[in-house]
Amino acid sequence: MNILEGIERAGFSFMSNFWRKLDKPIIGLAPMAGITDSPFRRIAKDWGAELVYSEMISSHALVYRNKKAFELGRFRKMERPIIIQLFGREPSIMAEAARIVENEIKADGVDINFGCPAKRVVKSGHGAALMDEPQLAGKIVRVMVKAIKIPLSVKTRLGEKRKTEIYDFAKRMEEMGTKAIAIHGRTLKQGYKGSADWKPIYKVAAMVSIFVLGNGDIKNQKDIAGRLSQAKISGVLIGRGAFGNPFIFHGVRAIKKDPERFIKNEGFEFAAVSSNERRETILKQANYALETKGKRGLIELRKHLAAYVKGSKNAKEIRSRLVKTSTCDEIETVLKKYENYL
Ligand SMILES: Cc1cc2nc3c(=O)[nH]c(=O)nc-3n(C[C@H](O)[C@H](O)[C@H](O)COP(=O)(O)O)c2cc1C
Repeated sequence: MNILEGIERAGFSFMSNFWRKLDKPIIGLAPMAGITDSPFRRIAKDWGAELVYSEMISSHALVYRNKKAFELGRFRKMERPIIIQLFGREPSIMAEAARIVENEIKADGVDINFGCPAKRVVKSGHGAALMDEPQLAGKIVRVMVKAIKIPLSVKTRLGEKRKTEIYDFAKRMEEMGTKAIAIHGRTLKQGYKGSADWKPIYKVAAMVSIFVLGNGDIKNQKDIAGRLSQAKISGVLIGRGAFGNPFIFHGVRAIKKDPERFIKNEGFEFAAVSSNERRETILKQANYALETKGKRGLIELRKHLAAYVKGSKNAKEIRSRLVKTSTCDEIETVLKKYENYL
């Protein structure tokens, strides 16, 4: 046992904290239920995303060994570092689920969903509803941190009703042992309305010493640069801006070579993504989907196909053809026919 392992065994998570190994600024894919499955995460990684999260998984379902829950947790080596996101409100169940993520799913990190605004989730006291129960949220974190060696992070919002709730909440999360916090710049009450407010996120970054990732409304590379230029956050997560557009991660490696220049210039001039590259990306995702989930994968892919062509000329016609496809060859034929519109 070397010194670092000794420190680790003594309870100081050091070697297993992948967050420290990531180059800052971190540019990652935000978790999106029904969207960020393994095939799409691999595509995001291909284009340069450095960090990906699973879709949210019920802690109860994992602990009761539900097959679908384990399927949601499955990933490929190329997705590392990957964080599995759990939701739940019972500390002991959350701790047991975290152990499963560490020992059986073998992910790099565990995340808690303290931000989901969906009615069925909030009504049962899960997701963003837990911002209104900070004591319980803190207890969940404390118990989970104790249960695992891999780092625990949380993803949350500015507050339940007020944008200032995040200050105490973030401090509590840090005190309880969270290694990173991702903050979507809206309150629960806002849902997805209005625009994301990043000022409170910047303020949190100045208040805590854990990793802080900002999230909300990033649509292009200029937005990434704009958000990173204003304060010392550790990075950003991109959700809807990556749906049908994993190309948004294009250039992350170039950004890493010279982040200061990227940030100061409010963006590099990136080479445009050609229609050929777009077609190949879509086909690659189709192949990943088929290989991972079989025929069901291609049906689930349909929403992605529609998102890929959104905004292009003839989008309606292309979409109506794409959503009728049921093999990769059929998808390729449609994409070839319309290649000038991609
Ligand atoms: C369809 C959809 C599903 C989502 N699912 C999750 C989820 O499972 N866990 C989570 O923490 N956030 C989830 N979110 C929230 C996103 O991660 C992100 O915080 C939000 O969309 C704001 O970022 P954006 O403007 O970049 O999309 C979801 C968002 C959408 C649109």
